Amino acid sequence: MRRTIIVLTAVALSIAAVAANSRTSGGATYSKDVAPIFYKSCAECHRAGEAAPFSVLSYKDVRPWAKSIREQVASREMPPWHADPHVGEFSNDRRLSDKEIATVTSWVDAGAPEGNPKDLPKPPQFVDGWSIGKPDLILPMTEEFTLEAEGPDEYQYFEIDPGFKEDVYVQAAEARPGNCAAVHHIIAFVQAPPPPGRPAPKLTKEEIEKMRAQMEKDAIFYRDGFLMRTKADAPVYDDGCAIPSGGGGTRRDGGGEDGGPGLLLCGYAPGMNQAVFEPGTVKRIPAGAKIIFQMHYSKVTGKVEKDRSSVGLILAKAPPRRQIYTHGVSNNYFLVPPGAENHRVTACWTTKDDIRISTLMPHMHLRGKAMEITAFYPDGKKEMLLNVPNYSFSWQTVYYLKEEKSIPKGTRLMVTGYFDNSAKNKYNPDPKQPVRFGEPTYDDMMIGWIEYTVDKETLKPAAALK
Ligand code: HEC
Repeated sequence: MRRTIIVLTAVALSIAAVAANSRTSGGATYSKDVAPIFYKSCAECHRAGEAAPFSVLSYKDVRPWAKSIREQVASREMPPWHADPHVGEFSNDRRLSDKEIATVTSWVDAGAPEGNPKDLPKPPQFVDGWSIGKPDLILPMTEEFTLEAEGPDEYQYFEIDPGFKEDVYVQAAEARPGNCAAVHHIIAFVQAPPPPGRPAPKLTKEEIEKMRAQMEKDAIFYRDGFLMRTKADAPVYDDGCAIPSGGGGTRRDGGGEDGGPGLLLCGYAPGMNQAVFEPGTVKRIPAGAKIIFQMHYSKVTGKVEKDRSSVGLILAKAPPRRQIYTHGVSNNYFLVPPGAENHRVTACWTTKDDIRISTLMPHMHLRGKAMEITAFYPDGKKEMLLNVPNYSFSWQTVYYLKEEKSIPKGTRLMVTGYFDNSAKNKYNPDPKQPVRFGEPTYDDMMIGWIEYTVDKETLKPAAALK
């Protein structure tokens, strides 16, 4: 009995303290205290034309969402961020500080007052929707694409020829959907022209057909309508690190050991950042290269939709020093058994040069549960670089390392993914299916995308750059 009284007194005292506090500070208002947090941490996605459901740029738009904002912010569901804070430091860490969370929750609890609009900070600027600023070049798909109202998701590839006569050095790149309601994701690749002095062999039509048929027979993948999938009878290696390829197999999007159309330029997906590099660090688009758009369309509206997406480029103003490469460390041979709750799959890549890693990005689909990326150094030490203990397909976050990570030649980078193919996974489309690698969201993937520069490489300052 006595204990209850003491507790009650303590609660009463703390309520009094809170009340006194908000009286003296005047209480948080949108204009003065909350807008700075929202502009910095939410506006990237919560603005007109983006995927998030409301804009945080005006009080009028925010007010109806106050209750939901309190919930989402207090539970740290928003802003989305899934990396373990104890492993690595990331420059795009979106998490709010405890103090920022307290400001938002106490503001909602006090009735979400607007305050004086004169206190508003300068709103963030977006040029025609581009987050990177005004692009020097905008490269749209050559034609509008029409997506039928019904049927499964579609992966479509579009090739555009930017007509570059000289190498182009890209400082920042952003992919923007033409139609947010239809575009699930965009990945833009650079496909280099064939090396000079190696002209395409002259083959007859029959010979080409024969080669193609043989390649299809040998490949572990097949085409299912618009989608690429691992064949059901392809060999199974969950431990990709135990096979010579490290888990990769030839694929179209560069995820494999030897494959793909080449360099990843930039992408668009919920939660994905634009590609922005430090001055002097660039992505190179060689003269004569094509840009390939890999479009993942999903049919959520039930209507015929049209899309013409584009990529915007800001070219390097400073002479380029080093080039950014992307490697997808991928396991294309795994099989997640029906009902498995925590199925482990690995893939490995051993570096052939001294490199510096700038970004890491896990990619799995709906059964994806967790991913770790660990470096095994040549001296026997190991270090975890990224830990995403609760992976979510909804968020394709690129993790930008606060400081580039130097990785000596011969380091084995190991990607470990965990899949939940049980009924406990609420996103699981069918727990009774064995799941293999494939482009459809009802198949899965296991790729750790790694972006890096190579130490020994110094690009010649380009005369081509004006
Ligand atoms: C990386 C992009 C991104 C950032 C940053 C972000 N959000 Fe969101 N937010 C979204 C998307 C996309 C949705 C819709 C999610 C869905 O439908 O599942 C959403 C949903 C929400 C919802 C839920 C709406 C509902 O349906 O009830 C709230 C509230 C919210 N966000 C608040 C915030 C706040 C506050 C911030 C900043 C502190 C923030 N978000 C930062 C992308 C983002």
